[in-house]
Amino acid sequence: MARPLHCPMTSALNIPDLIRKKRDGEAHTRAELEQLVLGYTRGDVPDYQVSAWLMAVYLRGMTAGETADLTLVMADSGDQMDLGDLPRTVDKHSTGGVGDKTSLILTPMLAALGLTVAKMSGRGLAHTGGTIDKLESFSGWSPDLPEDRFLAQASEIGLALIGQTRDLAPADGKLYALRDVTATVDCLPLIASSIMSKKLASGAHTVVLDVKVGAGAFMRTLEDGRGLARAMVDIGTRAGRQVRAVLTDMDTPLGHMAGNSLEVQEALSTLRGEGPEDLTELCVALAVEALAAHGEDPAEAEARARATLTDGSALAKFRAFVKAQGGDAALVDYPERLDVAPGRSDVVAPASGFVERLDALAVGRAVLVLGGGRERQGEAIDHGVGVEVLKKPGEAVGAGEPVLRLYHRDGRGLEAARALLEEGLAVTDRAPEPQPLILDRVN
Ligand code: URA
Repeated sequence: MARPLHCPMTSALNIPDLIRKKRDGEAHTRAELEQLVLGYTRGDVPDYQVSAWLMAVYLRGMTAGETADLTLVMADSGDQMDLGDLPRTVDKHSTGGVGDKTSLILTPMLAALGLTVAKMSGRGLAHTGGTIDKLESFSGWSPDLPEDRFLAQASEIGLALIGQTRDLAPADGKLYALRDVTATVDCLPLIASSIMSKKLASGAHTVVLDVKVGAGAFMRTLEDGRGLARAMVDIGTRAGRQVRAVLTDMDTPLGHMAGNSLEVQEALSTLRGEGPEDLTELCVALAVEALAAHGEDPAEAEARARATLTDGSALAKFRAFVKAQGGDAALVDYPERLDVAPGRSDVVAPASGFVERLDALAVGRAVLVLGGGRERQGEAIDHGVGVEVLKKPGEAVGAGEPVLRLYHRDGRGLEAARALLEEGLAVTDRAPEPQPLILDRVN
């Protein structure tokens, strides 16, 4: 992990010239991006100049080559993971969704398939959850592993997962914080470079991306999602990695559960081959992409991936992984012992008909106000609260029948969560067209 901070000496720092260049729609050279981004990371270039530059990028965009250069500069701004001799390494990233417990299922599947997952994961922010928070539902489980143990565990089990270290792509950490307060987050080259800089610095040979599209996602339209997926695949390819992206629907939550312990319970039933269809299909599709990137035939890969969920091999990998990182592995076999908040309250259908819309963003925000998410980094969360989707879009409901169930702790945030869910639910008298989960693939 230890690579010295890459700090080229910048003899002719003329930041206003660089801002002017981007303001006028010109493309930067790699050296210019190094001046600006590494200068900012070191503290030599002030926030106000980088803010102006970010806004110029937001308005003028970047070429594919510039975006790739920016990503490489950011990836090179701190430590880089050296996964050394680990075989067939693969990383996975989701652009963030509601009820997205895919990593909990996919990573042990990949380990059971003979790939190596040595991965960094994040915590949840705003309405989207994070894998580390979900795994902390297992009492004792820790994302803090020293590098030698991390690599040894990845080699032995095929799966090790740590939290984001501050030294990995530090330029992204600083730039992201500035984007957050300058209205420059939702900018394609900046999102693509932010995500891919961390993936490149993490060292895996193959990266499988799940680009979420819809109401609960960064990318609201398929067109925008495709643009982001293409940009990230292009960056990875230029950097000599195998990158494949799957575009998936995030209008409605994935599976039935949103909230940390509830999602872990659903992930465990999926690892037993008893999960909801949408979640199972997505995990299989992502596993197929990872295997295909390592040269396997997709049809055979699909059969092999499905088998890990029915023959117990993915579950066994997950159990070994939880135990190796200090977690209470008995909870893997007795998921009913996970801490789930005791309060229950249902949101019912206002009329009989079919569920037409069940807004993922509303569900994510409901979990947040119940106490299951955080508005700011570092806030404590309640792992036991959440929302269960009892009826998915397209399903028939009777008037007054429960559609959503809230799991709350002593009524905290209950009324606000109910209001959000009622607003996000629409029932219609005609069955809506079924929406595919997998919208497209880019590789
Ligand atoms: N996730 C990231 O890591 N960066 C972005 O810019 C957006 C989502």
